[in-house]
Amino acid sequence: MRIFLAIYLFVIIGAMGVLGFRGSISTKPPLEVFPDMDRQARYKPQAENEFFADGRNDRPVPAGTVARGNYFNQQEVFSKDFEDTILGDTTFLEGKNADGSFVKKLPIEVSYELIEQGKEKYDIFCAVCHGAAGDGNGVTKPYGVLAANYHDERLRNETDGYLFDVITNGKGLMLPFNDRITPEERWAIVLYVRALQKSQNPEAEAGI
Ligand code: HEC
Repeated sequence: MRIFLAIYLFVIIGAMGVLGFRGSISTKPPLEVFPDMDRQARYKPQAENEFFADGRNDRPVPAGTVARGNYFNQQEVFSKDFEDTILGDTTFLEGKNADGSFVKKLPIEVSYELIEQGKEKYDIFCAVCHGAAGDGNGVTKPYGVLAANYHDERLRNETDGYLFDVITNGKGLMLPFNDRITPEERWAIVLYVRALQKSQNPEAEAGI
């Protein structure tokens, strides 16, 4: 009987010890019986790192890296006879002719789908600053972002290649977008900016 009482007491104290403190708040580190893989050596995105000279955790893509396929097209990524047809095509990739001057017209076929694609990407990437109509009245204007108005005479007379270059490399206070918008999408945006320009300065005998 005494042994039974001792075991009984032991079980009660044990159960209260484990269950009684559930939900109570403590600032001490928790007891970890099985730590599993809770803590691992890792670098957090966008944090500092003393190891690299530029102090960044996120490593830039090595110069000259060529993307093969993408997330949606795994076939391309691993295919043996992968060929990059646009590699070295400065007209398409940089909006420049061989002599370094900007191309006048976009180097890809214009279609209604391309304008639609341009509108979609414009609304995502540009409208916040440049406004839905491209007049520089974006939602960031009250915060002091004086984005350009596409309907300025100068910008209406610029070449398509120049606009492509501004999107690719940024200009003045504007950030570059080459890391997040593909060349084709950039051309689509250029086309859409042209459409916006036409919409604000219609000519009686419009032609594209
Ligand atoms: C964060 C705000 C911001 C976003 C987003 C932005 N821009 Fe700009 N953009 C600016 C500012 C600010 C300027 C004026 C730059 C300067 O002259 O300092 C500018 C200027 C321009 C110019 C005129 C360049 C010139 O020669 O004066 C063009 C064209 C342009 N942006 C196109 C775009 C397109 C297309 C996108 C979307 C892919 C875009 N911008 C996204 C802020 C932005």
